[in-house]
Amino acid sequence: MKYKPLGRSGIMVSELCFGTMGFVSRTDRSSSERLYRKAREAGITFFDTANIYSDGEVEEYLGSFIRDERSEVVIATKGFGAMGSGPNDKGSNAKSLRLALEGSLKRLKTDYVDIYFLHQYDPLVAEEELLRTLERFVTSGKVLSLGVSNYSAYQTMKLNAAAARLGLPRIDVLQPMYSLAKRICEIEILPMAKGEGLGVISYSPLGAGLLTGRYSHEDKPATGRLVENPMYTKRYRKERYFTLAKEFSAFAESLGVEEATLATAWVLANEAITAPIIGPTNEDQLRLSLKALDFEITKEIATRLDEIAPPPPPAHDRSEVDR
Ligand SMILES: NC(=O)c1ccc[n+]([C@@H]2O[C@H](COP(=O)([O-])OP(=O)(O)OC[C@H]3O[C@@H](n4cnc5c(N)ncnc54)[C@H](OP(=O)(O)O)[C@@H]3O)[C@@H](O)[C@H]2O)c1
Repeated sequence: MKYKPLGRSGIMVSELCFGTMGFVSRTDRSSSERLYRKAREAGITFFDTANIYSDGEVEEYLGSFIRDERSEVVIATKGFGAMGSGPNDKGSNAKSLRLALEGSLKRLKTDYVDIYFLHQYDPLVAEEELLRTLERFVTSGKVLSLGVSNYSAYQTMKLNAAAARLGLPRIDVLQPMYSLAKRICEIEILPMAKGEGLGVISYSPLGAGLLTGRYSHEDKPATGRLVENPMYTKRYRKERYFTLAKEFSAFAESLGVEEATLATAWVLANEAITAPIIGPTNEDQLRLSLKALDFEITKEIATRLDEIAPPPPPAHDRSEVDR
């Protein structure tokens, strides 16, 4: 396992981040703890969670797992999502975020989080207001570094421009979706990250299970996030995703590598990515993700994968300007 600086924050993190979204919903406490320990044994020091995962219960699990080794791990959590039905139980306004952070710290049984992410853009909150809230988090020592997830490049740059203008703490880390099936962040987000020195921890490297072989058959399986969870069914509803999955599986088979390993290795090979966030729900899945660390994406493999899952168009139409 290699350790890399997380953008300009300089916080050192393992090159794989372990996503905990499946704790509680997919794995009970003891199997979640076993997965956590296995990840630690493999050298993973970086864990991603969110207040909304299983209504806070995931943070409670994670908090008890890290209790005796808080200084050895880097914890990212998120605020914005609804934690209740009240009007200020969600959002990025000063009140909602304060309640969100306090709740996360309590459940994680820690007095600080290493990275605090805004889970989504909130159009209701003015930039200066948002930055002043985040400044309080940082100056109180409750948050070390700030991140945004599911923000566009424009929203991120606008926030950081305001931070520079006002002399307030800036965003250092991004958390976009990124896999062979979802390459939109290649257009603006990853170039911005490279140019601005931002850390990137990307989520859903397996397309939430699409790129695991499970969806490569003519008939979709009866179980799995893409057929059971309405948000994911909608996200991957287009037939082309299943065609892609089928071709991807055939290619992985021809290389003699498991799909989950190939898909994770492809994300890892992108130099703009600091760490993909993996989401294994059992030890065998974890093993396949870890194998990606030793699998090289050669030029030939990358070219074939570009044919199976073509890169998105450039950010503007003057694409013949190729320097
Ligand atoms: N910021 C955000 O908005 C956001 C959104 C989503 C996720 N995340 C973060 O990113 C992490 C990873 O996201 P993700 O769960 O979508 O990642 P993913 O790796 O794309 O999908 C993981 C799913 O794929 C299946 N899987 C994993 N390894 C497999 C294998 N070897 N063979 C077959 N199936 C396999 C599992 O499904 P089964 O459980 O059905 O076995 C697992 O739930 C989350 O835990 C969370 O921390 C963040």
